[in-house]
Amino acid sequence: MNRWFDRPGAGQVLRDGTRRAGRAAALALCLGAAVAAAQDEVPFVTTPDAVTLAMLELAAVGARDHVVDLGSGDGRIVITAARRFGASGLGVELVAELVRTSRERAAAAGVEGRVEFREQDLFRTDLAAATVVTMYLLPEVNLQLRPRLLALAPGTRIVSHDWDLGDWTPDRTVTIDVPEKAVGHDKLSRVHLWVVPARVHGLWCGDGASLEIVQRFQRFSATLARPGSDAPAAVFDGRISGTTLRSDGVHAIGLRLDGATLRLLGNAMVPAQSFVRARDACP
Ligand SMILES: C[S@@+](CC[C@H](N)C(=O)[O-])C[C@H]1O[C@@H](n2cnc3c(N)ncnc32)[C@H](O)[C@@H]1O
Repeated sequence: MNRWFDRPGAGQVLRDGTRRAGRAAALALCLGAAVAAAQDEVPFVTTPDAVTLAMLELAAVGARDHVVDLGSGDGRIVITAARRFGASGLGVELVAELVRTSRERAAAAGVEGRVEFREQDLFRTDLAAATVVTMYLLPEVNLQLRPRLLALAPGTRIVSHDWDLGDWTPDRTVTIDVPEKAVGHDKLSRVHLWVVPARVHGLWCGDGASLEIVQRFQRFSATLARPGSDAPAAVFDGRISGTTLRSDGVHAIGLRLDGATLRLLGNAMVPAQSFVRARDACP
């Protein structure tokens, strides 16, 4: 059975056993084997052009973005991000031949000054400079990457062709008809977008007030209390998008993480106030 073609919309991926190898010699051996295995077992499959555009549009890529494609194949996503949207970019790819092709394509497109292609394991790639991360990998690889994606700067956009991130549900998903799609049975592509949420879980203290936040990916539930007063605690649930938290409902409450300060924006019901993280309890 060819796992690639039997999976609806599956993408080419190399197993990443190499990244766990501790020693350099073992790493080099494993890497060579992994490349050979990938070329032997899984054909190179590209994201169709219409899907590439949909991915970049869904992430609202612009000239100030730095797009990192993990497993960049022939470089099309990064090159399109630079050529059509003015972004800079990095593509990392294990197959040397594809890295060479990507550099040639970048030069032909006139964007070689704004993009870089590295022969590198995506699990060893520093993602700190990315404002947008793109992927066309496999579900289990996405899940292995998930802790690193969640640790990126709040507001970083992540776009994945076809595969999701398990129970970290996407902020948006679009489905595209792709009659020419080389893999899968339904000739559809799904493009998922996540905006990395600020990490706000825990206890925050303000002037005479405490804010206890329970966070699960982009969802939060916050309990605002005034210790020592008779005022009842207010509980509000909502979503986090980057550094902005907004409660559901008519009297929406907004919060914004500003460096180390969490600012409650306030409304007719709740006064504006600032909070900082607490270790144990609020004074
Ligand atoms: C399905 S292709 C996607 C190519 C390109 N991103 C696109 O969407 O057209 C996946 C690519 O990831 C590369 N790849 C797989 N595992 C990798 C790893 N651990 N590090 C870097 N590249 C990897 C494969 O060689 C392949 O070119």
